[in-house]
Amino acid sequence: VAVLEQLRAARRDPGLAVLEGFPALQHALRFGADVVLAATDDAPLAARLATELAPDLGLDRLLRPLEPGALGPGAHHTRVVAVARRPAFAAPPPGTGPVVALEDPRHPGNVGAVVRVAAAAGAAGVVTTGDRDPWDPAALRGSAGLHFALPVGRVPALPEDRPLVAVVPGAEPPRTALAPDALLAFGTERAGLSPALAARADDLIGIPMRPGVSSLNLATAVAVVLYAFASTDRSGFSQRSIVQTGDMPTDS
Ligand SMILES: C[S@@+](CC[C@H](N)C(=O)[O-])C[C@H]1O[C@@H](n2cnc3c(N)ncnc32)[C@H](O)[C@@H]1O
Repeated sequence: VAVLEQLRAARRDPGLAVLEGFPALQHALRFGADVVLAATDDAPLAARLATELAPDLGLDRLLRPLEPGALGPGAHHTRVVAVARRPAFAAPPPGTGPVVALEDPRHPGNVGAVVRVAAAAGAAGVVTTGDRDPWDPAALRGSAGLHFALPVGRVPALPEDRPLVAVVPGAEPPRTALAPDALLAFGTERAGLSPALAARADDLIGIPMRPGVSSLNLATAVAVVLYAFASTDRSGFSQRSIVQTGDMPTDS
């Protein structure tokens, strides 16, 4: 009961991050998260996952066993939940690679998928505007805990110390290498990028689509641009080291 109460309280605490599922806990630990609580209501399953996927992390000592089913029907299928302290957000300074900017994202699952691909591609950070918390538990579930791999934070306004590249359906694909320190701005799911932000941009780029297709999913668009960016090779972006995280459950 005490553990469940701690978990409930953590969901309301902006200083804490709730990690749902074994992959999220595993990534968070690999990227240095300060985990204050970890629990499972299926200890045999958690022990098996720990042995198979993360024998080095000492999860058997960390995970507190709960009564079977105690986490409820909505818990992650790996039956693991954890709480970590949120790192303080500091915007990545120029010279560290491209930053992904999401204007007023509405769906935490999209934010999580963006953080996941940004971490994988070696981006310097992800910033969001608007009222949604990018550290929402659903976003952390979508990122599989990779919020701990790079700076992720909500900002009142987009930073102005980087070249602003607006990513907009219908714009021309980039003809030259993107600035290595670009702030890559993506619009909100339904309405797209605000005219004010597009007008401020130093460059506008688009991803070609077959006629009749109006747009890509937000996280898909971010993935295409980041990997196109990496493949130019001129920014040195693709040379950034990628940390090996080991095998993950295939259905994570
Ligand atoms: C679901 S889309 C928004 C669609 C919106 N109706 C529009 O016209 O922008 C979310 C964001 O993904 C990016 N996006 C999606 N498809 C794109 C494409 N083909 N080219 C460039 N950006 C795209 C844009 O930043 C867009 O604002």
